[in-house]
Amino acid sequence: MSDGSEPLLRATHLVKEFAVGGGLLGRGRRFTAVDDVSLEVRTGETLALVGESGSGKSTTARLIARLLDVTAGDIEFAGRPVHALTGKALHAYRGEVQVVFQDPYSSLNPKHTVERIVTAPLVYQKRPIPGGARAFTGALMERVGLNPDHSARFPAQFSGGQAQRIGIARALAVSPKLIIADEAVSALDVSVQAQVINLLRRLQEEEGFSYLFIAHDLAVVRQIATRVAVMNGGRIVETGDRDQVFDSPRDEYTRKLLAAVPRIRPEWDAERRRNEQARKDREREEAGR
Ligand SMILES: Nc1ncnc2c1ncn2[C@@H]1O[C@H](COP(=O)(O)OP(=O)(O)O)[C@@H](O)[C@H]1O
Ligand SMILES: [Mg+2]
Repeated sequence: MSDGSEPLLRATHLVKEFAVGGGLLGRGRRFTAVDDVSLEVRTGETLALVGESGSGKSTTARLIARLLDVTAGDIEFAGRPVHALTGKALHAYRGEVQVVFQDPYSSLNPKHTVERIVTAPLVYQKRPIPGGARAFTGALMERVGLNPDHSARFPAQFSGGQAQRIGIARALAVSPKLIIADEAVSALDVSVQAQVINLLRRLQEEEGFSYLFIAHDLAVVRQIATRVAVMNGGRIVETGDRDQVFDSPRDEYTRKLLAAVPRIRPEWDAERRRNEQARKDREREEAGR
């Protein structure tokens, strides 16, 4: 899958300015949230975008998903420019890139059933629902580790981890080429976090799609990233393969970021791997019941 050829996504010199403190006269200052960001996501890989809160990660994600318009810069997806798409072409692009957000309870409509939530992207894309809504939803729920009999329930009836699985099922509904996970596991307990990360990895192995995985928690990033891009103050200060960035960071800011996270010292890795394996085995067992 990840063969190092033509990237799925190539963002070049992205800039996003926001008007701040404009007031009624509209003479506000401009704030540059994303400042000349270039990045690539290859087919089947996970590019992690890391950095402290406010560094511009979500804004970058929203530009790439075309939820925000760029101030400047180019976005190429599967070899074609998408930063200026409008109308039907933009609509179609939004079916190829899906976003999973941090807080499932606020990103899932509380008044809609799981079935309605999960099939919404297909309805939005005016695509038929293969096998009908009930069967389609049930199959997706099973794929993300939820009970398919619960498709008529509402988000509030699920735990945080389960609700996030609904968000993942919704993202999968349109078979996207790129899933942007914006702090998708950040609000979950550590043990639940690990389960959801395992799920995300398994789905990627099965489907071959790419992730842009945004997180401020480097311990989480180390578990899932193929490559890592480090953001600080709207800029990318370092990009590299995961082990290179973690084990021999080149940038001063990256070193500081790593130093601030005692959990990812190498001596913890062996234990993390053991725990992860145990969890995987347990999940497999549960799935097989
Ligand atoms: N719609 C907006 N209007 C004005 N400023 C914004 C807007 N969205 C984000 N920002 C600012 O841009 C900066 C980067 O935000 P964000 O991309 O959310 O960072 P991160 O996801 O890394 O925490 C922050 O200073 C934030 O306050
Ligand atoms: Mg953010």
